[in-house]
Amino acid sequence: MSQVNMILDVDTGIDDSIALLLALKSEDVRLLGITTVFGNVSVEQATENTLQVANLAGRSDVPVLMGADRPLLGEWDGPVVHIHGPNGVGGYSFPATDRKPGKERAADFIVRTVNEHPHELTLVFVGRLTNLAHALAKDPGIASRVKRLVLMGGALRAPGNVTPVSEANIWGDPEAARRVFESGMPITMVGLDVTMAVKLNESHIERVVREMAPGGERQAAFIEHILRFYFSAYERENGIYGSPAHDPLAVAVAIDPSFVETEEHDIRIETKGTVSYGATLSDMRGTPKRTNASVCVAVDTERFTEYLLRVLCR
Ligand code: RIB
Ligand code: CA
Repeated sequence: MSQVNMILDVDTGIDDSIALLLALKSEDVRLLGITTVFGNVSVEQATENTLQVANLAGRSDVPVLMGADRPLLGEWDGPVVHIHGPNGVGGYSFPATDRKPGKERAADFIVRTVNEHPHELTLVFVGRLTNLAHALAKDPGIASRVKRLVLMGGALRAPGNVTPVSEANIWGDPEAARRVFESGMPITMVGLDVTMAVKLNESHIERVVREMAPGGERQAAFIEHILRFYFSAYERENGIYGSPAHDPLAVAVAIDPSFVETEEHDIRIETKGTVSYGATLSDMRGTPKRTNASVCVAVDTERFTEYLLRVLCR
């Protein structure tokens, strides 16, 4: 398999941390940069966590660029402490680092890098789409020069996770999502229809601890800590000790689309509704006249989980 040229945008975050480790450690990825955004935590905290996870993976070579601290319209509603902990990584404390993010802003980095690699770059967004909306405002032409956008967000037939019908990454900046879905960019939507189908559990933690390659003990301890925190949070909310694998699945789909089955849809973003704010809607009454996204509707959970664990343990 040839390597995927990737920019990964994160709001690090526990599942973002696992997605980062997957992208940083996979031999199938050439990671050109990581951009950060507000969401699970503030953009400053997301940036700090991202730098630390990259250090942990021994990948201080990958540039980290800080992005938006708020949605296009309105204000950020604050950190998701009950799911991701006070610092976004379940209270895990990293050793001090003086590594800083790059000076370029995330949106400028995205525009520049897409234009330097026309039709070669896969963008993977696992937080709000704010940085990409800013990038499109600076240069709408990037929509036709990215190879593909793979995003974790939305829900087609599955229920929402923030409201009955809305998923967190879209709900957190629906105006940005609307602009991205209307941009003409090729989009794969990895939403709750598939991410909720993958369940990580205690046996997966045990396997990472047992099978981690020599020298990776700190990575194994980090993964163990954050997943235990995440599993407990999920148990409090849903009664099951375990968790979905939202963000790592999006990275995996960018690497190998055969992990999922897709349907073509014309996805519209609800930006105004009081009940349906942030919903990703498709008119399913017939064959759509036009489509703007390949929406993931089924996932090979076993093959994806095997791939994830194999790469994490490298
Ligand atoms: O809805 C799941 C998404 O919301 C994930 O990206 C998670 O990290 C949070 O941002
Ligand atoms: Ca995320």
